[in-house]
Amino acid sequence: MPSLEDDYPRYLASKRSVDDRAVNERVLRRLATELEGRNRLDVLVLGAGIGRGLERLLEREVLPANAEIACTLVDLRESNVEAARERLPEWARSQGHAVTELNGDHDRPADPDPRNAEDESGQEGRGPHLRIETDNRTVDVEVLRADAFSVVARDEWDLLVGGAFLDLFDLDAALPRLLAALEPGGYCYFPITFDGGTILEPPIGGIAPDRLEAAFHARIDSGGDSCAGRHLLTRLPREGASVLATGSSDWVVRARDGAYPAAEATFLRYIVDTIADALAGSEESDLGEEVLTRWRERRHEQIERGDLIYIAHQLDVLGRVREPDEAGPGSE
Ligand SMILES: C[S@@+](CC[C@H](N)C(=O)[O-])C[C@H]1O[C@@H](n2cnc3c(N)ncnc32)[C@H](O)[C@@H]1O
Repeated sequence: MPSLEDDYPRYLASKRSVDDRAVNERVLRRLATELEGRNRLDVLVLGAGIGRGLERLLEREVLPANAEIACTLVDLRESNVEAARERLPEWARSQGHAVTELNGDHDRPADPDPRNAEDESGQEGRGPHLRIETDNRTVDVEVLRADAFSVVARDEWDLLVGGAFLDLFDLDAALPRLLAALEPGGYCYFPITFDGGTILEPPIGGIAPDRLEAAFHARIDSGGDSCAGRHLLTRLPREGASVLATGSSDWVVRARDGAYPAAEATFLRYIVDTIADALAGSEESDLGEEVLTRWRERRHEQIERGDLIYIAHQLDVLGRVREPDEAGPGSE
């Protein structure tokens, strides 16, 4: 059984169609409107995974036309970074965009110890790896294996993008560090931010759904924030930023005529295993191993039959750091 830890890029690829459906178009359009007319944009994509976030910003024409755009993608996992470097040029060519491989020093072997990944964000090895030219947009792309918090601090950015990222951290500690790196008037866009809803249907015997959900969320809260979406709505204004737009981006995964679209059956297997693995032996859960094993098996059987429906509640949030003379929180 492939685990998420073994093949994270495969998990991220399997959620592509789920995210594409879920992303809140109204929030995305507001971001596009805000960026319109800019002639230069420095973007940092935090926890960029295999690069799908940047692809989507280009596919949906969110980045400003006729602007000089520099986009840095950063992720802690080497396998994701490798996949992003391989996939992005392939994706761009498949869209008919011109691709130029640039001379970034990215062939230098990465340190296998993630504690040292920060070194990768140092001056050495920096520089764009790739130029993607669409009809009216040119984007220089740099893909780094590093800790996002060290990269964010080394520059000032016009736009931070963190998709499915903030629930991994204590928001009160993480958000000030991120916002401090934005220019006044700079934007932060946090799509697919988990917001405390895990629904699996139909129910099965053995574990009450609300007990499983509570244990899973408590596990997330032991290092991160299972309600990061709603918490952003209060923390952003507190940290000197306005919430410009927000809306739900729930994952809703179900089969049609007994089959799941795209790679969504694989995605569901990862989700079921992630929940079961997170709860096995966790201090936050009193669910026994036997019960969890049975739960996992039965959920997998439901996936095989096309019976499992999975819903995760998430929010997309767009914020902007207020200018020094700007009053109060803004609104939609
Ligand atoms: C749930 S994935 C989301 C990936 C991508 N943004 C997406 O939406 O498909 C979270 C990502 O954050 C990365 N990550 C976690 N902590 C990080 C950190 N401190 N710095 C950089 N990346 C990090 C993980 O390796 C993983 O790829």
